[in-house]
Amino acid sequence: MNHLIAPSILAADFANLQRDIEMINNSEADWIHVDIMDGMFVPNISFGFPVVSAVKKHATKPLDVHLMIVEPDRYLKAFKDAGADSITVHYEACPHLHRTIQVIKQLGCKAAVAINPATPVFLLEDILGELDMVLIMSVNPGFGGQHFIENTYKKIKELRTLSADKNPDLLIEIDGGVDATNVTKLIEAGANVLVAGTSVFSSASQPAAISQLKHA
Ligand code: DX5
Ligand code: ZN
Repeated sequence: MNHLIAPSILAADFANLQRDIEMINNSEADWIHVDIMDGMFVPNISFGFPVVSAVKKHATKPLDVHLMIVEPDRYLKAFKDAGADSITVHYEACPHLHRTIQVIKQLGCKAAVAINPATPVFLLEDILGELDMVLIMSVNPGFGGQHFIENTYKKIKELRTLSADKNPDLLIEIDGGVDATNVTKLIEAGANVLVAGTSVFSSASQPAAISQLKHA
């Protein structure tokens, strides 16, 4: 499968969000990555339901909602209603992960689990068969513009091996510090969804930056 590109609007210009969504609509991007931070699970607050609904009004591509929040179960339906097409919860935030994943699927969303840099891939073994996607964080979640953690390549390879019989169609998404210098190596390791915030939005030509990632 060709890899997918999901620009993260965390790095967009929030005063010109419609313009930036339309840029993504007209680009070679596949999804729109939407980062929700609660100031509890991560030391930063991003935005909530009114912004997600406003993005949905203009987006022509699926919304890939990444919940960096405690007790995500309380808000799954609200994010679905706001326009989420896929919902990612953090392994570290979900004591009843199997139940949480079933709820996401019953809502009709793609279901994904994210793991922090210090969380090993093998902990997902017993849930892998239920998932559409795993998000491997390649920075500590909470902020855009951080440095890519090299150990990520090893984790992608381990997850590809682990998913080979349990879930061969599993999507592996990488989030944090993705740019033109590491995208090829990430794909070679087995990643097939790449999130990019800073490397897209700080580029002089944002559509060209997306295209470069897409054709890596
Ligand atoms: C980080 C977020 C990322 C962030 C990536 O906690 O989950 O999605 O937007 O930003 P860059 O691409 O700038 O590392
Ligand atoms: Zn994210």
